[in-house]
Amino acid sequence: MSRTGVWILGARGGVATTMIVGALALKHGLAESTGLITSTDLFDGVPLAGVDDLIFGGHDVRTTSLPECAREISCATGTLHPALLAAIEPDLAEIETHLRTGVLHHSGHAIETLAGVDVSAGETDPGAAVARIVTDLEEFGREQKIDRLVVVNLASTEPQIKDHPAHHSVDGLEQALKDGDGTAFIASSLYAIAAARVGAAFLNFTPSPGALLPSIARLLEEAGSPFMGSDGKTGETLVKSALAPMFRYRNLRVLSWQGYNMLGDRDGEVLAHDENRKTKIDSKDNLLHEYLGYPLHSKVAIDYVPSLDDWKTAWDFIHFEGFLGVKMSLQFTWQGCDSILAAPLVIDMVRLLDLAQRRGDKGAQSHLALFFKSPHGVKDHDLHRQFHALTQYLEACRGE
Ligand SMILES: NC(=O)c1ccc[n+]([C@@H]2O[C@H](COP(=O)([O-])OP(=O)(O)OC[C@H]3O[C@@H](n4cnc5c(N)ncnc54)[C@H](O)[C@@H]3O)[C@@H](O)[C@H]2O)c1
Repeated sequence: MSRTGVWILGARGGVATTMIVGALALKHGLAESTGLITSTDLFDGVPLAGVDDLIFGGHDVRTTSLPECAREISCATGTLHPALLAAIEPDLAEIETHLRTGVLHHSGHAIETLAGVDVSAGETDPGAAVARIVTDLEEFGREQKIDRLVVVNLASTEPQIKDHPAHHSVDGLEQALKDGDGTAFIASSLYAIAAARVGAAFLNFTPSPGALLPSIARLLEEAGSPFMGSDGKTGETLVKSALAPMFRYRNLRVLSWQGYNMLGDRDGEVLAHDENRKTKIDSKDNLLHEYLGYPLHSKVAIDYVPSLDDWKTAWDFIHFEGFLGVKMSLQFTWQGCDSILAAPLVIDMVRLLDLAQRRGDKGAQSHLALFFKSPHGVKDHDLHRQFHALTQYLEACRGE
């Protein structure tokens, strides 16, 4: 049995906590694997790590303990049953001992006000921050006798980052670190650089663009690390990427696509800030233009509605034109629990990135595009073709 370390950035957040609780529930036979595609027969004969072989650790900038975070979610949304939490309490307490204080670096007002401690004190030097993260990752690997490591970014959505020469070449990146140029990076960049330094696989589940800057993607590739991002496709955008192809398959012209999202919880609170919301909206809106390839009116709006907590509601209105220029419309309403949709996806991707590491695959893992709103280096947003790309990859793995 081999041991796969899963190092989570934002380990005390809603998605992270739900994922850890879910993995423990599966390990103890207390839950079904609904929502995980890696547990379906599609993966028969593919040598994936078992969910019970995953060892969790991570960074966060808040200090609420992991068991307490799980109880908070249980009270707020009712998704994590108190009996389940009682049964896995010792495991959660054990994982809590693997959590370390994260870094804040140009993270912006919304995220900085979440933090329980002054984590940036003395760490304006990006090189020092990377060194501290590397130490935490190495220590975790040694203490937990990890065979391979997957670093997963589940931290709050960061503001966009100003262009800098360090974003475009590995030499520029190394020079900025050497010079202690704090303006070049944001926290997610520093985590991703540290992942490359220890040869870990890297998953950017967030829309934060700082995590997979061109120079960082190259650095990860040179380090032999498989990686993929950005921004998990779990709700409204998932439906969009399934529906948009239908219009194309039937040569129906989409004229307008209006999407309105409401969400509560901490993620919604962070996205209520203009600079963080812009990162998310760009990620959600790009898909249609890139996929349909013709001009259309589109808008994505996101509003923070505290009472909804994690129960995200999206309403989409699609105005389209058919034969003889006749206009018609389609509307859908999506009401999903964000963390419940995201958590199994993260487990799936951790297992697939772990597999990629064992196969020696490095760089962007384009067969994972179906999991993302903005799949790194992939322009095809057709969910059906993305699914086909995954099945082809699995076929190749089976033959080995
Ligand atoms: N369905 C989904 O829930 C979904 C889908 C796609 C993307 N995402 C993205 O996943 C991320 C997590 O979502 P969530 O609902 O769990 O949010 P959350 O606010 O509950 O959790 C984020 C966690 O990150 C921590 N954090 C913030 N900055 C940090 C830093 N620099 N270092 C370490 N920790 C840091 C916060 O303290 C918090 O615990 C968000 O970026 C969200 O946009 C979520």
